[in-house]
Amino acid sequence: MNAETGPDAKQARSREQVWTVLIGGLVLLVGVLSALWLGPTVAQKKAAPAVPQLTPSMVPLVTGEEPIQLQFTKAGCPVCHIIPGIKGAEGRVGPALVLGLTGPQRLADPGYRGNATTVREYVIESILNPGAYVVPGYPDRAMPRWYGQKLSAGALENIAAYLEQVRDTSPSSAQ
Ligand code: HEC
Repeated sequence: MNAETGPDAKQARSREQVWTVLIGGLVLLVGVLSALWLGPTVAQKKAAPAVPQLTPSMVPLVTGEEPIQLQFTKAGCPVCHIIPGIKGAEGRVGPALVLGLTGPQRLADPGYRGNATTVREYVIESILNPGAYVVPGYPDRAMPRWYGQKLSAGALENIAAYLEQVRDTSPSSAQ
């Protein structure tokens, strides 16, 4: 009897077919599962950075007596902003705080509807009332709305004085 057509060969062929189906199915299953699993991860990576949830209980009162670095860190601004001259301020949720450059642009924007007339006022307005002007391309309602309760008048002044003169490099006048 011929080995190619005999019952043994037939059996071997059907066993081969079963394996092909099994392996094919398995490959398909792994493919589908990994697409389901990796799909959202890939989509997340492409989306804007997740907005860190900062609650009032996470932020202590900033008195304004602290060194400027500490005033920013206590307030949590570095979580969302790049702030030249402030260590660890590398957040990318909001714009880099280089108001010496961007402040005049914001005030000149025809879409600006706030009440500030100087960069210093604009910075203070942005902190106390972030909804007054939402920088185009950035999420609204991401920046906390309760900084008025956490920053003393002195801290607010210090922060504004620091930010209004920041350009792209570390300001040399900062302590
Ligand atoms: C949870 C994230 C988050 C935190 C924390 C945060 N901000 Fe913001 N901030 C944003 C986002 C997003 C924007 C842009 C959208 C908008 O204008 O509201 C912004 C905008 C600003 C602007 C306007 C910037 C520009 O280029 O016109 C200033 C000034 C500012 N923030 C200062 C601060 C200061 C100071 C702190 C800390 C006391 C702080 N932010 C904390 C998210 C944050």
